[in-house]
Amino acid sequence: SIEDIRAREILDSRGRPTIEAEVYLADGATGLAQVPSGASTGSFEAHELRDGDPHRYGGKGVLRAVENVEQTLAPELIGLNALEQVMIDRTMIDVDGTDNKSKIGANAILAVSLANAKAAAQAVGLPLYRYLGGPLANVLPVPLMNVINGGAHADNNVDIQEFMIVPIGAPTFREALRWGAEVFASLSQILKADGLLSGVGDEGGYAPNLTSNQSALDLLVAAIEKAGYTPGEQVALALDVAATEFHDNGRYNYDGASHTPPELIQYLAKLAQQYPIVSIEDGLDEEDWAHWQQLTDTLGNWVQLVGDDLFVTNSQRLQQGIDQGVGNSILIKVNQIGSLTETLETVDLATRCRYTSIISHRSGETEDTTIADLAVATRAGQIKTGSLSRSERLAKYNRLLRIEDELAEQAIYAGTIGMGPGQH
Ligand code: PGA
Ligand code: ZN
Repeated sequence: SIEDIRAREILDSRGRPTIEAEVYLADGATGLAQVPSGASTGSFEAHELRDGDPHRYGGKGVLRAVENVEQTLAPELIGLNALEQVMIDRTMIDVDGTDNKSKIGANAILAVSLANAKAAAQAVGLPLYRYLGGPLANVLPVPLMNVINGGAHADNNVDIQEFMIVPIGAPTFREALRWGAEVFASLSQILKADGLLSGVGDEGGYAPNLTSNQSALDLLVAAIEKAGYTPGEQVALALDVAATEFHDNGRYNYDGASHTPPELIQYLAKLAQQYPIVSIEDGLDEEDWAHWQQLTDTLGNWVQLVGDDLFVTNSQRLQQGIDQGVGNSILIKVNQIGSLTETLETVDLATRCRYTSIISHRSGETEDTTIADLAVATRAGQIKTGSLSRSERLAKYNRLLRIEDELAEQAIYAGTIGMGPGQH
């Protein structure tokens, strides 16, 4: 049973405060979890509680969330059985009492939720992926690696937020990671030769000053070929359009002009025809349900259409998407919903309704590697955890290498099967 819970304010990969929690069990097992933080957040996400005190970290401190863990949540949870994750999460959700966890803070609740699962796994002597996923947790995810950044995350002329490489043709996760790292190295050489090499963005991708979205895709195809791989067959492409960011009053502003929703849909269809794109995330605004339906009718049979800001890991919003035939895939971010139980419920709903799930990091991350275990536990088959630089991104990849070794011949790399109904 839970004996004690501690929390503290730490720093994330952007140097901003975030919260970590430690759960101590009576038998000596412990669990530590750290919470990530987004930048281009969806409006319907659970509430990230920040102090708002301008004298500390520009108002971004999380001391109230720390206090909520130690003063409010801990007294309710001490004595409970750590193996009863659902009850523990429900207790915290009830103590909070709001729809979006705004009283206690989704960051405070999530820290305890994940730390408890880790303590429970340790108590029963299992790695987290096996504790959560059982004996069938043996599928290593395909990584969607964000190597060129645009949109709100970069100061260039590229409107699309993320350009990803996807090593679908690799035989193992270890090889997939090598392929990705080699393409990333080729990309850096090409950018350097063109005088375009710049520093990396929040997720470790380059942010070159390019003239169009298409030139980013051309660069990726060239980098894949230069590294000796076949674009499409071995290394495919994926986009996170993050269209909410350039949506304004029913119109979409990209390529230096204002466009109608049908124009954007046709634009994305054209890109998906011209380039080996297997997945498009947030192709439209988070509230543009009608055109999302049109996008799905147009592209849904051959491209994975992922809802991130649209679904925010929320089973009610996902259900609305399922009912309306919107998208065929969901991005899963633990801090969008704020507890492990609800995260797993949403993945479960997606799986039952033949939507694929991509387990995802945030642009603000920590050295915590829970999402690597979560990807294997859920058999999601896909993970989005950034580029091949910055150790808070590589920590997740390295954790997956370790899991693959541990599973040995039981391990299966998801490859193309991971891409689900929208696969090529
Ligand atoms: P965020 O961006 O973590 O800053 O919200 C990532 C994404 O849009 O997928
Ligand atoms: Zn996104």
